[in-house]
Amino acid sequence: MILYSFVNFCLIVYIIEQQLITLRGKKTMEPKKKGGFTSQIGFVLTAAGSAVGVGNIWRFPYLAARDGGGLFLLVYFILVLTFGFTLLTTDIAIGRRTGKHAWEAFGSINKKWGFLGKLTFLVPVIIMTYYSVIGGWILKYMVAYISGQHKLAAQDGYFTSFITSKASPIVFMFIFLAITAFIVFTGVEKGIEKFSKYVMPGLFIMIIGIAIYSLTLSHTDAAGVTRTGLDGLKVYLIPNFEGLTFSKFLGILLDAMSQLFFSLSVSMGIMITYGSYVKKDVNLNKSIAQVEFFDTGVALLAGMMIIPAIYVFMGTDGMASGPSLMFVSLPKVFESMGAAGVVVGIIFFVMILFAALTSCISIMETLVGTAMNIFKTSRKKTSSVIAIISLVAAVVICLGYNVFYFELKLPNGSTGQLLDIMDYVSNSFLMPLISFLTAIFVGWVIKPKWIQEEMEVGAKKFNRAKLYSFMIKFVVPVIMAVLFFQSTGIFSKLPF
Ligand code: PHE
Repeated sequence: MILYSFVNFCLIVYIIEQQLITLRGKKTMEPKKKGGFTSQIGFVLTAAGSAVGVGNIWRFPYLAARDGGGLFLLVYFILVLTFGFTLLTTDIAIGRRTGKHAWEAFGSINKKWGFLGKLTFLVPVIIMTYYSVIGGWILKYMVAYISGQHKLAAQDGYFTSFITSKASPIVFMFIFLAITAFIVFTGVEKGIEKFSKYVMPGLFIMIIGIAIYSLTLSHTDAAGVTRTGLDGLKVYLIPNFEGLTFSKFLGILLDAMSQLFFSLSVSMGIMITYGSYVKKDVNLNKSIAQVEFFDTGVALLAGMMIIPAIYVFMGTDGMASGPSLMFVSLPKVFESMGAAGVVVGIIFFVMILFAALTSCISIMETLVGTAMNIFKTSRKKTSSVIAIISLVAAVVICLGYNVFYFELKLPNGSTGQLLDIMDYVSNSFLMPLISFLTAIFVGWVIKPKWIQEEMEVGAKKFNRAKLYSFMIKFVVPVIMAVLFFQSTGIFSKLPF
């Protein structure tokens, strides 16, 4: 089966390559000039496409549900406007000013810090191994809903039996990866930007539609209790301070912080890559504010669409379901909605599939763009090779649920198998470490002025310059160090 998928994949890539070559009537094997975004809106929507992904639609709502609703939202918004803004600005400005991918960007500013570029590059390498696996799961659910298997999907054990089966997860991952690879293969302007420009506004409209629908729901359970969508909205928005202790608050803060990294795709070189494709006349201040707004807006709306629905049909118990929320609890909610649930289910999984695709594209583009620069190879050749390597890695991750199954206790206290380990290494271990080092580098070695100059190119005003400077020098390094020690479990080993 694996061999079959692999051969198929190579074949498809090869055929596409040949077609494109014939279409253009020439062999473009020599490295071409790097592509770039054609417009500011194209850049904003593509960057937002990377930022908006499963993090917003699945991870954010379940964290908000678990961490006291409104309280989590409040903490998260403050973090977006301070940390999120600082890290996003840093990445995009470094990318545009150097015109390079993370791999070379840091070293080109200061030779001694070249290692940070390599370290940053590791994150998309790791995420690439498992993101397409999750993309495959989403595709599987979308197909299940479209083909009328929604009843099955809502049954206990459906998800587990799917991910532990040998062939199916690989097949769906393969299709998801092939679509991603094809778009990256066609290039930044013709593929990535164009795709995001259509898909992102569509996603926004769908999410608003389902969020409004969610609020109109009402259900009376077996015990005769009626719950409405608006009650659910209150649970989501109003802060719950009940039983709040300092350590619980610290937990919420850390959850919100790691969510922020993942959600904005910062500190992993991706935004540096996209920044390097931006023209000098684009207003970075505005673009960054728009990306923050888009990403947070989608997360907020996703919560508004999921939490009231879960609350109406499952009460507060359903809200504590954690990571399984999207694949286990939601299908049950769609099932309780009756006929409408099938339509809502289809729209939901189509939407999240788009979101996951644009994110996976940004990860693969970072790998491809970097490799093209290092090896001076053409886009087509490089993306074909990277796609094949990614496929092999993703197959291994899929098999982590059966052939290679094992459980490992992670330093942060949770247990995981292959996919969780990859996620832990990239999100909980590397990202805080990279943000810490980047903050030291920008704040104390090259100084915030270096970033400010880039933000002010073309007489643009860098409105939040003072905030930026303060954050990058003092706040980010301290908090990142805390986050790093927390997630590596070093804190819990201390005697106090
Ligand atoms: N930001 C994406 C999300 O919210 C996830 C992502 C992670 C995208 C890493 C690219 C790289 O789901």
